[in-house]
Amino acid sequence: MIIKPEITGVVARSAHPLGCEQAIIKQIEYVKNAIPIKNGPKRVLIIGASSGFGLAARIALTFGGAKADTIGISFERAQNEKNVGSAGFYNNLYFQKHAQSEGRIAVNIDGDAFSSRIKAEAIEAIETYFEGEVDLIIYSVASGVRPKPDTGEMWRSAIKPIDQSVFGASISLEDDQWQETTLPPASDAEIEGTLKVMGGEDWELWVDALINSESIGEGCKTIAFSYMGSDITHPIYLDGTLGRAKIDLHQTSHSLNLKLANFNGGAYATVCKALVTKASVFIPGLSPYLIALYKVMKANGTHEGCIEQMQRLFTTKLYGGGTDHGDKDNLTKVPVDGERLIRIDDLELDAATQQQVHTLVKTMNRDNFQDIGDYCGFKNAFLQLNGFGFEEVDYHAPVDLEQIVTPVIVP
Ligand code: NAI
Repeated sequence: MIIKPEITGVVARSAHPLGCEQAIIKQIEYVKNAIPIKNGPKRVLIIGASSGFGLAARIALTFGGAKADTIGISFERAQNEKNVGSAGFYNNLYFQKHAQSEGRIAVNIDGDAFSSRIKAEAIEAIETYFEGEVDLIIYSVASGVRPKPDTGEMWRSAIKPIDQSVFGASISLEDDQWQETTLPPASDAEIEGTLKVMGGEDWELWVDALINSESIGEGCKTIAFSYMGSDITHPIYLDGTLGRAKIDLHQTSHSLNLKLANFNGGAYATVCKALVTKASVFIPGLSPYLIALYKVMKANGTHEGCIEQMQRLFTTKLYGGGTDHGDKDNLTKVPVDGERLIRIDDLELDAATQQQVHTLVKTMNRDNFQDIGDYCGFKNAFLQLNGFGFEEVDYHAPVDLEQIVTPVIVP
């Protein structure tokens, strides 16, 4: 079959397997030529491994110097008679193919990370493939829903401001239209739902389950990703429902840090840069900021994608800090800010960059956003997340999906 991009609003309805492989290959090439990760972890569990930051972290740790083996959890759609399958589904297949070809263990577990069943499956896989222990746990789930245990009902996240209405624009990737909306303040139930889905509770449940099953290795660390942004995005993000959930995540990092101290390890919330991912294009008001940010950071030579962010995180922060002289075990010190957060959003928040972004966003409107912002780069990044827009791929050639799905070797 011939596979074309299909987009509804900001949701991709199709994915091109061969383009997904290209995206993986390009990320592998990047980390192979970047500063290598030294003293990195060898056995890594990534929850939310099939796209965005989780996938980039998996690629960086496997191919960027650490030579880590990985178990990746994700919730993706396989191909069937009606659908070609989601990009994350193909990302998992191709990541596994390339990792295995270099002798690495790469186990994919597909299912709901919030469930006890998938936690048990992960523990079993750690037992089978990692001799029972992990050195790093990355929590990178971005979801709109979380099932309530036992009842079958759902908590739902709502991306809304708190205690105020916020006016902002979104950009429909389906027809390149600028859409202005006023978001009303979230209800208490919406604040609570977002906290349950995107806060720290499930991260803590994972780490607790791994502690209880004695799956935590000596020096094991855990990270989860956060976003803070600048005063342009604060009304919809940091001061809104998502920000409330992220603050909960930051607090969770402190309690997990105490628990992992028993293993000479640590837990950190890691604040990343705003990027186009499957999840971020959903955030109302963020798109104009993103296209302004991409324009400015590309012009200044400071733009990074998920892969650059992750390689820098591991080489300069999580496994690249100075030695903690006060520590008898000579543990590596992780550089953090005053709130004990790892910051790799420094280039985004650079004062001069923000000043330029401010100026652009102020003058941006429905008529000029394609000219004054990097809308082309934004849209291309979205297409590439779904395997489209790679010059190496012949998009006119038919794809035999069955042939693509079969060659996977299970380690
Ligand atoms: P993404 O949408 O690219 O990836 C999300 C991952 O979660 C995928 O692997 C997906 O399969 C998995 N997932 C979703 N629901 C699941 C479930 N029920 N069970 C198992 N796996 C599930 O998202 P992205 O953007 O990489 O986000 C990851 C984290 O990074 C989130 O916490 C997000 O808030 C944070 N972050 C994102 C930023 C951005 O600009 N994209 C900036 C800073 C932080």
